[in-house]
Amino acid sequence: MHPSRHRYDVLVVGGGIIGLVTAWRAAQRGLSTAVADPAPGGGAAHVAAGMLAAVTELQYGEQTLLELNLASARRYPSFVAELEDATGLGLGYRPCGTLAVALDSDDRADLRELHAFQTSLGLRSEWLSGRECRRLEPMLAPGVRGGLRVDGDHQVDPRRLAAAPLRARRVAGSPDHRSAPGIDGRAGVVLHRSSVARIETVRDHATGAVLDDGTVIAAEQTVLAAGSRSGGMPGVPEHALPPVRPVKGQILRLRVPPGHGPFLSRTVRAVVRGGHVYLVPRENGELVVGATSEELGWDTTVTAGGVYELLRDAHELVPGLTELPLVETSAGLRPGSPDNAPLLGRSALPGLLLATGHHRNGVLLTPVTGDVMAELLTTGSVPESARPFSPARFTLQEQPA
Ligand code: GLY
Repeated sequence: MHPSRHRYDVLVVGGGIIGLVTAWRAAQRGLSTAVADPAPGGGAAHVAAGMLAAVTELQYGEQTLLELNLASARRYPSFVAELEDATGLGLGYRPCGTLAVALDSDDRADLRELHAFQTSLGLRSEWLSGRECRRLEPMLAPGVRGGLRVDGDHQVDPRRLAAAPLRARRVAGSPDHRSAPGIDGRAGVVLHRSSVARIETVRDHATGAVLDDGTVIAAEQTVLAAGSRSGGMPGVPEHALPPVRPVKGQILRLRVPPGHGPFLSRTVRAVVRGGHVYLVPRENGELVVGATSEELGWDTTVTAGGVYELLRDAHELVPGLTELPLVETSAGLRPGSPDNAPLLGRSALPGLLLATGHHRNGVLLTPVTGDVMAELLTTGSVPESARPFSPARFTLQEQPA
């Protein structure tokens, strides 16, 4: 039997939020587009908490990334409105702000430094005393020593976000394919629910991919958006593989029962014993507690130790949390890159573009990634603001002499 063959302008390898937003935007620009993924709408976003925390997750030395994070955060309201309009689904976007608190004097000193750094960059962040923090969030532990109120750091439900492009309405005229509900109403995107066996190359040029089910997909441009798996994609020559690795995160989902009364009104976070803990309260009662950060390769085991540490640290922050039902434990793999920033642009293999390496910021960077990749796919160049994130920054040719 001959393998089935297809041809598109664009093939996106990976149907997590980054791949789906790229495909959705490419199709909106009139490109015939396909996505290959055995379980589209899954990936790291299925595990993520959905914080849009450009300011509270700011790290020293990451000011360039901050600009991209802020640009994406600014796009969120209109991005969500557009996607909600296209699907009729709520995405759980909550412009609720974030409170980052300190539990002891060392944490307080660190948070004071972060505040000074944020202020020096012109970011909006207000220092509060422990009493002021508890007035804002009465469930906080009495020992809270102070905190930062950041009203611009919001949240979205990443599971709804990842499902949304798959549900965007179709209209007559979008491509019809037996394995493929369209994901964009006007242009349509074809879904191939299979893993990619290898990227195809002809004379050092990417020409599409072969899927595990034998399907051959030819594409003018192929986008590698396979999250942590991008770094080992078969068929991509060594020199063109993105330096992306899996960074494990364990996370918990609790539920605030209906009628319980207010628990938390905004995202609350802290550094406890050197590890980050955050609590993200959704309007539907879900309370997400995350997350570990572990360099353990492809391991996605939920461990007793991981759950214990998250609950221990979250309990120190909000003691009443231990009364809540624990409804889910999960672990996912962030696509980590050497500088914690994404790789957006051309790879060293002509015809292969990269949208990967978003590490801790995949949900936050979804809107801007869609726009950047659509621009690249249609015009051949990336917007000025995304140039620092060119994959070429990791190639030898780019190193200073
Ligand atoms: N941005 C939150 C995390 O990666 O855990």
